[in-house]
Amino acid sequence: MHNKDNKNIILTGFMGTGKTTVGKLLAKKLQREFIDTDALIETRQGRTIQAIFAESGEAAFRQMETDIARELGEKEGLVISTGGRFMLNPANIQVLSNSWIFCLVAAPEELVARLTRDKENRRPLLDVPDPGERIIALLQERQKGYQRFIQITTDNKPPEDVAKILLEHITHNS
Ligand code: S3P
Repeated sequence: MHNKDNKNIILTGFMGTGKTTVGKLLAKKLQREFIDTDALIETRQGRTIQAIFAESGEAAFRQMETDIARELGEKEGLVISTGGRFMLNPANIQVLSNSWIFCLVAAPEELVARLTRDKENRRPLLDVPDPGERIIALLQERQKGYQRFIQITTDNKPPEDVAKILLEHITHNS
């Protein structure tokens, strides 16, 4: 079923690295369908991620992510932007291993600035008295997990440039 040129393209990386923005641009360039796993979960659940965490707990949300990973692993030709922890779960990696997987990276100071500024997309994990401290702790905890994927630095690069870099990478390595 899977043909090499049509492999799913998955974007992972910490919250605030631009996965959704870059994923949308890339999908447009490649004329592919775009999926954002957080948005898909919210649509299916009919409630926000924040509400899911508050009402059902983080474990329930992680199970929803795993169900979606399984489902997407059966498809091809997609550009998929994932929630920040989605691709750190070995079960999710396993069902999506036949994909291009890129990890978007940004400097910790930049992430703290972006995420504490972003009041629109509320992240339940950062709903703590000192979100800056939590960001640094989570980055440290997740560093090893993210490092298994191809790293794409986004510092000082507009999303359009990041999408171009991904496209070049795919074209040169297909
Ligand atoms: C999370 C990241 C969020 C969302 C949820 C948990 C995480 O997605 O899935 O709030 O654990 O890193 P973004 O990375 O798109 O913000």
